[in-house]
Amino acid sequence: MGLKLAISGKGGVGKSTLAGMFAQLAAQEGWRVLAVDADPAASLAATLGMPEEERRKIVPLAERRALIEERTGAKVRQYGQIFKLNPDVADIAEKESAFFRGIHLLVLGAIERGGSGCACPENVVLRELVADVILNKKDCVILDMEAGLEHLGRATARGVDLLLVVAEPSNRAVEVCESIRRLAGEAGIGRIAVVGNKVAGPADEEFLRKACEGASWSACPAYAGYLGGLPFDEVIQRADRENRSVFDVAPPELLERFRQLWEQVKAKAAGQSGTADGRG
Ligand SMILES: Nc1ncnc2c1ncn2[C@@H]1O[C@H](COP(=O)(O)OP(=O)(O)OP(=O)(O)O)[C@@H](O)[C@H]1O
Ligand SMILES: [Mg+2]
Repeated sequence: MGLKLAISGKGGVGKSTLAGMFAQLAAQEGWRVLAVDADPAASLAATLGMPEEERRKIVPLAERRALIEERTGAKVRQYGQIFKLNPDVADIAEKESAFFRGIHLLVLGAIERGGSGCACPENVVLRELVADVILNKKDCVILDMEAGLEHLGRATARGVDLLLVVAEPSNRAVEVCESIRRLAGEAGIGRIAVVGNKVAGPADEEFLRKACEGASWSACPAYAGYLGGLPFDEVIQRADRENRSVFDVAPPELLERFRQLWEQVKAKAAGQSGTADGRG
């Protein structure tokens, strides 16, 4: 039922670029796509190629006070209130998402952190919403997340078909992958794969492959392998600067790389094993 993909990794590694590409490839295949921007520094709309005027109109859900108050029965930013911990959110994805290029886009926005397990009304609505789209929708759901796994409660984590962790060839990025893997294990995510990005040559590829095939990775029962690396490409950088989607400007070879990766991601999400590098 559906395809539930979460994408995480260190800041700037290319999570949103990948999420935007997958959303467009999935939509092209006829999936009903719900793209969820769960990164406080929202940029998924941009990677979908949404023009700036249109992007500016999107009010992140965390800032929709009236909606949050209506659903939880509580006033935002007042402490010590009793409110609904299971607000009705089933219609939110449909009603409150932006619709662009056949993709429904939900921007969650930032929540002030009141410690872990913060039960402020905003957080309760967002958590319930993410749980609802992961557990109940038949769509292709693509979650663009920051390096933490905020928003994913235990039950929700189990509904994620694949957590794709993006790594660039740097020690820091690889370390972040490892901490995400630990968090994912604790959260109960069933399947994790790593994809490399900004790979500038064979040495980069070798570095990533070694880092993602070490003992700590093979000891992880959820680990589904390293899917290979996407090249560093100026076209991708330029697309960002020109406010365009990579999907629109990528030459056929580059688009093909993304397509191949998307096929690997779908196969992994469906629980099919491949060769270690997934290209078999
Ligand atoms: N393969 C690539 N080659 C060249 N540039 C890339 C590549 N992938 C991503 N970039 C560039 O790197 C920058 C960061 O990409 P992106 O916003 O997708 O990363 P992110 O992980 O979502 O970042 P953040 O953590 O800030 O949300 C962008 O300018 C993007 O164009
Ligand atoms: Mg991003």
